[in-house]
Amino acid sequence: MTTKKYHPDTVAIRSGQERTAFGEHSEAIFATSSFVFESAEQARARFSYEEEGNVYSRFTNPSLSVFQNRLAELEGGEACLGTSSGMAAMLAVCMSALKAGDHVVSAFSIFGASRVLLSGLMQNFGVEVSFVDLTDIESWKSAFKENTKMVFFETPNNPLMEVADISAIADLAHNHNPDILVVVDNCFCSPILQKPLSLGADVVLHSATKYIDGQGRCVGGAVVGSESFVGDKVLAFMRTAGPSMSPFNAWVFSKGLETLSLRVHKACDNAEELARYLDGHSGVERVFYPGLETHQQYELAARQQVRSGAVVTFEVKGGREAAYNIIDSTELMSITANLGDTKTTITHPYTTTHARWSDNDKKKAGISEGMIRIAVGLEYVDDLIEDLVLTPCP
Ligand SMILES: Cc1ncc(COP(=O)(O)O)c(C=O)c1O
Repeated sequence: MTTKKYHPDTVAIRSGQERTAFGEHSEAIFATSSFVFESAEQARARFSYEEEGNVYSRFTNPSLSVFQNRLAELEGGEACLGTSSGMAAMLAVCMSALKAGDHVVSAFSIFGASRVLLSGLMQNFGVEVSFVDLTDIESWKSAFKENTKMVFFETPNNPLMEVADISAIADLAHNHNPDILVVVDNCFCSPILQKPLSLGADVVLHSATKYIDGQGRCVGGAVVGSESFVGDKVLAFMRTAGPSMSPFNAWVFSKGLETLSLRVHKACDNAEELARYLDGHSGVERVFYPGLETHQQYELAARQQVRSGAVVTFEVKGGREAAYNIIDSTELMSITANLGDTKTTITHPYTTTHARWSDNDKKKAGISEGMIRIAVGLEYVDDLIEDLVLTPCP
């Protein structure tokens, strides 16, 4: 591409591709583990990064470069690295940024595995973690310490759809110490709806498994940020530890980025309609969707995000039994925990994505047994609404 500045919709389709001598129109898949050098001297220069070029697919591959360059441009970051999963992206960031004795401030209510990674794995390696209320800026303020090195949160969070003020948290962290790495999981929004780096975050994480793939085919992740952190430190971790993305998956994700904007906007259309329907239903206790005026961070979400996203969580009267009945009576929606798919998925967070949390922690976060999470896809929205058999309550 030229140096011309293109609209993100164009970037998502055109950026990052370098055609080979065969002149292929669609991006090629480079299914190769290693790359051949012209001489021993060239091999030495490539291995030491003196000469740019591919070496070994644990850490460099042209199919990954297309995906990485495209996503970096969409998120507004200097560098991007693809990983084998969203959790591998988070692990890569933690292992590249932290050492024993360091302190992390994280939102309490985050994706189940992300919290297990911080409170289990990282604490086993001598990293101290303080968990705070995502939406309570005062609790963030009082959590920073002299040894704080990283801040972590997702917004909107899974499954509660609470929204964090990215600029406010980033400012707090950087005023405390400009070197604190502010890491935001942008999985629920994708760069189409939210760009955390432009709001002061240092690193964006993705589970590419979700909206970036968009059709539930591949597991993958990505880290986006500065050349000095992502392009240097995280790359060094990837080269050493190797939780790499396969070239095939990178190709799927690159093609996914081409249709991301269309898919995300259509899914948001459907989610907005479903949320409004659920909000007005007598059998529903509460709807968690930032696009509803009753949502606690409605104004913040409107300011910070292009739209409210396509995950709608709601709580039904009657606890787990009522929730299970609704889930089991669906004929169209898929009972599965993935999200960001063209196919709508329905899940019971209490016993699936957040099953590894203690009952007390779930209670503290507000994840109840009557809660259902719908990751709205691209089907005809009236069919989705009809698929939910809700019992009206007087
Ligand atoms: C918000 C969030 N972050 C990270 C992940 C982990 O991604 P992956 O399953 O690709 O490892 C998930 C998975 O559901 C998620 O919902």
